[in-house]
Amino acid sequence: MTAKSLEPVRWRGGRLSVIDQTLLPVRLSYVRLGSVEQVCHAIKSMKVRGAPLIGVVGAFGLVLSLKHIRTWDMDEARKKLRKYADMLIGTRPTGVNLRWAVERVYNASTSVDAPSSLHQRLEEEAEKIMREELESARKIGEHGAPLLEDGDTVLTHCNAGALATVGYGTALAVVRTAIEQGKKISVIATETRPLLQGARLTAFELAHDKIPVRIICDSAAAQVLSRGIVDKVVVGADRILGTGHVTNKIGTLPIALSAKHYAVPFYAAAPVSTLDLRTGASSVVIEERDQREILYFNGKRIGPRAVEAMNPAFDITPPEVVTGIVTDRGVASSPFMESLRSLTSKNS
Ligand code: MRU
Repeated sequence: MTAKSLEPVRWRGGRLSVIDQTLLPVRLSYVRLGSVEQVCHAIKSMKVRGAPLIGVVGAFGLVLSLKHIRTWDMDEARKKLRKYADMLIGTRPTGVNLRWAVERVYNASTSVDAPSSLHQRLEEEAEKIMREELESARKIGEHGAPLLEDGDTVLTHCNAGALATVGYGTALAVVRTAIEQGKKISVIATETRPLLQGARLTAFELAHDKIPVRIICDSAAAQVLSRGIVDKVVVGADRILGTGHVTNKIGTLPIALSAKHYAVPFYAAAPVSTLDLRTGASSVVIEERDQREILYFNGKRIGPRAVEAMNPAFDITPPEVVTGIVTDRGVASSPFMESLRSLTSKNS
């Protein structure tokens, strides 16, 4: 199986399964998620991760929650559905796609007047979101590919590829489309501590697509940029604000600042479902993950016993260092508020 045919999420006959990303690149195997609780656990424990993919899996999670809702009373059914929607949304607070997708499925319940029709309506909506996200990835690729030139080396951080989406990717969609158009592109992937999404997932996807990729440790990014061997930085995003602030995996900010210093263009690529045009940067909740992700490596403690760790999962890159935002509707540039608003008011 190649990364091109990777299907990070499957919904077949009402059964949800996902690739367990914690096992990659050693083992490519699917895990079945049979209940909304199992979906929440899979998202929290990073079996599924990547903003758009979490959104789609969360949407199906809400469909699965109907198994617990056994009532003929529509108000009661919606009340219970709300509780499960909030439970799903609470699993990862920073990315915006999860809330967006779960709310969309929840809101679909308003067009139904009997609990017996809920399953069909909610499933329809979740499947629609999944189809749209795949289509968006293709469009991000189309809009972003012209930014890359034949022979470019692209530096990326974390995993914004097929495995973070329903397939194809966001940042990696730009790379894939440019290659499909005949350009020769190579990638430098940061390992992305502490969970190594770059080394484990991005390198896995690209190697299987036969796209040249080299891994660097996170702290090598500025040095590599200073050598003039990177032509563009392209990353994904978990939340993009109207101001152009880009929330993405921890470690994106120092890469963006270094890229600005060494005059390397920095792009974020994301579907419009990642945009949050209402929130200000100071109100974005940065997920703080378990200290053990930092204090242990491969099951072995690497810090002294008495020492604690800080583990913010995301950082926020300010618009001054962002060259452009590649979306499925086009590429936004500074001033971002105007540019993003005009893209989102366009039909897709
Ligand atoms: O913590 P993760 O692995 O879910 O973080 C993922 C990222 O930061 C990605 O860059 C982002 O979700 C974009 S995915 C297309």
